[in-house]
Amino acid sequence: MDRQNQSPTRLTDGLLLEARGIGKRFGPVEALVSVDFTVGYAEVVGLLGDNGAGKSTLIKIITGVYPPDSGQLFWEGEPVHFRSPRDAYERGIATVYQDLAVVDLMSIHRNMFLGREHLVTRRLGPFRFYDAGRARREAQLALRDIGIDIRSPDEPVMMMSGGERQSIAIARGVHFSAKLLILDEPTSALSVKESAKVLHYIESARARGLSVIFITHNVHQVYPVADRFTILSHGQSVADLRRGEASQEQIADMIVRGHELLAELRKAERED
Ligand SMILES: Nc1ncnc2c1ncn2[C@@H]1O[C@H](COP(=O)(O)OP(=O)(O)OP(=O)(O)O)[C@@H](O)[C@H]1O
Ligand SMILES: [Mg+2]
Repeated sequence: MDRQNQSPTRLTDGLLLEARGIGKRFGPVEALVSVDFTVGYAEVVGLLGDNGAGKSTLIKIITGVYPPDSGQLFWEGEPVHFRSPRDAYERGIATVYQDLAVVDLMSIHRNMFLGREHLVTRRLGPFRFYDAGRARREAQLALRDIGIDIRSPDEPVMMMSGGERQSIAIARGVHFSAKLLILDEPTSALSVKESAKVLHYIESARARGLSVIFITHNVHQVYPVADRFTILSHGQSVADLRRGEASQEQIADMIVRGHELLAELRKAERED
C-alpha cells in the first residue's frame, strides 16, 4: 500500500473530489448555501474565507462528520455518501488538525503508526508484538521521504516544534497512501520559518501525487504553495481562481469584501 512505486500524477484529467451544490443549515444559520468545490489530482487548493464563512462545515461534510442537507459529493468520479470520518478515511482522506495532529507523550514512531499498529507487528508463537525496530526504521524513512530529518524516532513528540509535529502528520498521510490531505489552519500558530517548512512538505506531498486542501483565512499563508483558491463568504462560494488569475492582495480583498461580491453576483444573475 505504499505510494512510492506509483506514478506521481494520474493520467486522467478528472477530479479527485467534487462537491456539488452543498447546503447545510444549523437551525436558523445557513452555514452553506449550494456550494460547489473541487479538488483535482495532485492539486493544492486553498480554501479561504473569514470567520464563520463555512470552511470547517464544508470540510466536515467532505470528511463524513456531517451529512449535507442537499447536494452531492463525488470521489474519483463516483457519487459517495460518507457516513462517518472512518468512511472518508478509508477512501484516502486524511485530515490534519493543528492541535490534534499527534499525541504528545508518544514517540515519533508510535505516532506514525497510531491506529495502524497491525502493520508493524511481529508474531512470536501465538502472540503478536509491536515491532518497534521496524516501526523506527519505517518512520525515519517516511519522514526522510518528504525531506524531514529527525534526531531520533524514539523522541517523544512533546519535544518537537509545531512545524515538526505537522510534518509527522503530513508524513503519516503520505506514507499510508492518503489521496487527499486536509490541513485546517495548519500554519496559523507557527513561526515564519516553520510555516515555510510546512509549505515545503506540502510541495513534497503534491510531488508524490497527493492533493491537498489548505484551510486558512490568511491568503499569505497559502499563496506560495496553492494551485487554486476557493473563497467562501457567508456560506457561499464567491470566487474560484487559479493562482495566476489574482494577486495575494486581490484575494485578501475578496475575503474581506465577500459581502459586496455576493451582492454583485446576485445583481449580475438578475440581469442575465
Ligand atoms: N455545530 C454547529 N451548530 C450551530 N452552528 C454552527 C455549527 N457549526 C458551525 N455553525 C455556524 O455555521 C457558520 C459557519 O461556521 P464554520 O465553522 O463552518 O466557519 P469557518 O469558516 O470554519 O470559520 P472559522 O474561520 O472561524 O473557523 C457559522 O455561523 C457558525 O456559527
Ligand atoms: Mg473553521
